[in-house]
Amino acid sequence: MFTEEQIQEIENASTADALRLVTGKFPEATVFSTSLGQEDQVLAEMIATAKLPVRIFTLDTGRLFYEHYDLLEKTNARYKINIDIYFPEAPDVETFVKEKGVNGFYESVENRKACCFIRKVKPLNRALTGAKVWITGLRSEQSDNRKDMKMIEWDADRGLYKFNPLIRWSYDEMLDYIRQKNVPYNPLHDKGFISIGCAPCTRAIEPGEDPRAGRWWWEVSHKECGLHVHQ
Ligand code: ADX
Ligand code: SF4
Repeated sequence: MFTEEQIQEIENASTADALRLVTGKFPEATVFSTSLGQEDQVLAEMIATAKLPVRIFTLDTGRLFYEHYDLLEKTNARYKINIDIYFPEAPDVETFVKEKGVNGFYESVENRKACCFIRKVKPLNRALTGAKVWITGLRSEQSDNRKDMKMIEWDADRGLYKFNPLIRWSYDEMLDYIRQKNVPYNPLHDKGFISIGCAPCTRAIEPGEDPRAGRWWWEVSHKECGLHVHQ
């Protein structure tokens, strides 16, 4: 467990040092979930270049943009890493599409959450098995649900620490980092796709729109898939 003092030290450290401190405490049990979004590409760069002992994985829902796969290959090659890919259970998807339709997530919030559960939450829980620390690319600016999140939080449901190293980074800081280090990123970001999820559930946004307005755009609120429920 982290003591209050250790948490303070991590919170006050630079992002690179915070990553070193946390992974140093749980070297064999720290995992990083990457969606290959801009935030996650920053973290992948930091983790890979510092050669931190972190297992990196992504969740392939089966409905991602083609650009995602190109970026996955590019990222593996650039940093000489091999990002683990977790897929949903085939019977879960087969039952869902048979009962609700292949695009049944548009029909109701209930269907949409069921699809996210099958394609994202269940595989995530599998990927987190045995982990003591789960690194994410969450930023507090991203949404109301995320604004009170801390850099390190105990996730009682999953029995691990959730570590959000970029929680206080601004959007511009993130972009600067990507430019300075020439970090590979999804070309859709340059076409108005700020927050990218599955292809049928993500659209580009207009200038001035909420950064998450393009996610599940047909729903009025609660733009979360269930990966990051904040109590
Ligand atoms: S989501 O809950 O709306 O889908 P978002 O796209 O903002 O999340 O990403 C927030 C964090 O959740 C990412 O930094 C990453 O850690 C994790 N995440 C989201 N989607 C995936 C994915 N497909 N694979 C792995 N991690 C993901
Ligand atoms: Fe299904 Fe859309 Fe959720 Fe992807 S984002 S898991 S396609 S409902």
